[in-house]
Amino acid sequence: MTSLSIQPTDGPVGAFVSGIDLADAPDPATAAALRTALGKHGVLFFRDQTLTPEAHIAFAQTLAPIVINRFFTPVDGYPNIAEVRKEADQKTNIGGAWHADHSYDQIPAMGSILVAKELPPEGGDTLFAGMYAAHDSLPADIRDRIAGLRALHSSRHVFGADADHRKDPDVDTGDRYHNARAATQDVWHPMVIRHPLSGRKSLYVNPDFTVQIDGLPQAESDALLALLFEHAKRPEHIYRFEWEPGSIALWDNRATWHMALNDYHGHRRLMHRITLAGVGLEG
Ligand code: SIN
Repeated sequence: MTSLSIQPTDGPVGAFVSGIDLADAPDPATAAALRTALGKHGVLFFRDQTLTPEAHIAFAQTLAPIVINRFFTPVDGYPNIAEVRKEADQKTNIGGAWHADHSYDQIPAMGSILVAKELPPEGGDTLFAGMYAAHDSLPADIRDRIAGLRALHSSRHVFGADADHRKDPDVDTGDRYHNARAATQDVWHPMVIRHPLSGRKSLYVNPDFTVQIDGLPQAESDALLALLFEHAKRPEHIYRFEWEPGSIALWDNRATWHMALNDYHGHRRLMHRITLAGVGLEG
């Protein structure tokens, strides 16, 4: 087994992993150690890696089967790698609002592996928010109120034919999204889940995809979701990751949210993302 070093960040979520060259797929014991660390820290960061698309796929497959994102344009020749791209002349980016990938799926993705391919000279950091901390720091009455409740997650308003961004003439998604007709997923998940790897309680609602709390009138549901979103994105729950050439982030979508900062207009940013299959979620 590789001798891994796992150093927590100075923030509330995430750890830096060293002592591993991901150009060679990890052996099963190392992959198991990475999965455990991912469940504990929520995000793992790797520096100074050189990952071809083939090595990216091989690394992913040691952790979990790959699930293809239905809406992102894939990398040419690699249908299971999604392109996360903003061109120099585009104003909007992909993933620029807080979210957890694929929460609109019946079996939401366990995680995602994002590899930096082309970075702007400055900016383009990614924020991660820790959902264990967000849950545990809620006022007790709110924690009690949401325990046992379910919320609806949907892909329609983000990726569908009537998606909000399609109505905004200032939004230039270009060829970055496709397959709007596949945006038919609506699914109920517990608002607080027992994390499948760590066993910890995690807040499982997110601003991009969660649209309704079961059993509450829409206005009450909107107000409670807004309160939870404001709470979860408080600075004490967030870690800001600065990308460098050779950086990789592996995050757990059941323990974190993420948001890509869009502060590098006039420059290109290109990342490759693979999404990893998860398991059914329980409260
Ligand atoms: C994403 O939301 O998957 C993209 C995150 C990023 O580009 O930093």
